[in-house]
Amino acid sequence: KQPRVLVTREIPEAGLSILRQCCEVTVFSSEQQPTREQLAALLPTYDALLTMLTDPIDRELMATAPQLRVISNYAVGYNNIDIQAAEELGIAVTNTPGAMTDATADIAWALLMAVTRRIVEGDAYVRAGKWTGWAPSLLLGMEYGGKTLGIIGAGRIGLAIAKRARAFDMNVVYYNRRRLDEATEQQYGLSYVDLDTLVRSSDILSVNVPYSAESHHLLNADLLARMKPTAYLINTARGAIVEEAALVEALRTGQLAGAGLDVFEKEPEVHPGLLELPNVVLAPHLGSSTVETRDRMAVLAAENIVRVLRGEPPHSLVTSN
Ligand code: GLV
Ligand code: GLV
Repeated sequence: KQPRVLVTREIPEAGLSILRQCCEVTVFSSEQQPTREQLAALLPTYDALLTMLTDPIDRELMATAPQLRVISNYAVGYNNIDIQAAEELGIAVTNTPGAMTDATADIAWALLMAVTRRIVEGDAYVRAGKWTGWAPSLLLGMEYGGKTLGIIGAGRIGLAIAKRARAFDMNVVYYNRRRLDEATEQQYGLSYVDLDTLVRSSDILSVNVPYSAESHHLLNADLLARMKPTAYLINTARGAIVEEAALVEALRTGQLAGAGLDVFEKEPEVHPGLLELPNVVLAPHLGSSTVETRDRMAVLAAENIVRVLRGEPPHSLVTSN
């Protein structure tokens, strides 16, 4: 009997076809994610589960699935899954690191440039028929040469953002729990600073740490207040790393110049204050949303499942330590 795989949303065929070669595959839906109740009803007969970052998988849910051997998350972030519980229940958890590094770095830069050069404001202005001609002080923005980009979290994505910053002649400082080795710092032109120095010196601050209890509201009201009033915040990691209500307040009062956000505290809800602010560019969690990246993620997520079911180590196992 072939192992059974439940895929919670339709993913690219590149991944589904790999699964179908060895498994009986159920794709839940292209339209909506399963509810917790639906998952609990389905899971007992499955050997593998391929999840989205929007599927919260807790201990109780995993305990309903005695056959379950692997949860393959179609994302690099895995804060939607209780990793400790999975380990205790003998369920392997995998993610898709590396697959979306460039796509996410690109969207961080797209948001950065859109907000600092006021592209979205300008687009609305043109469409509203308000443009009466070139003007010396129309929608002035900020340029990058000689400015400081601060990166919180120098993993794959943080480094890919830093690499792009070099082409714009920026100074790049970073903060990370663990300092990088000197060769990597040199390769990417990075200087290591403490968090307080980073927050105070950045003209643009990019958030690139994984979400965890430790990084929850890492950028709280206190830290946001230390930023330059001319600075911009870019978040392409997870919404709750930034205290959203405090960010709204800082943007409203001019404590901060602007923000580019791909992620939010309670997706798909967006703080109503953000919707009213002209100095914010909002994207609906599009970091990995390129055709190429989604294909790579699908292949990696599928291969991770196949490997665990065969008793082989997966490409990218997530562990709790
Ligand atoms: C996207 O947010 C991901 O974690 O892959
Ligand atoms: C993502 O790929 C990261 O770990 O930075």
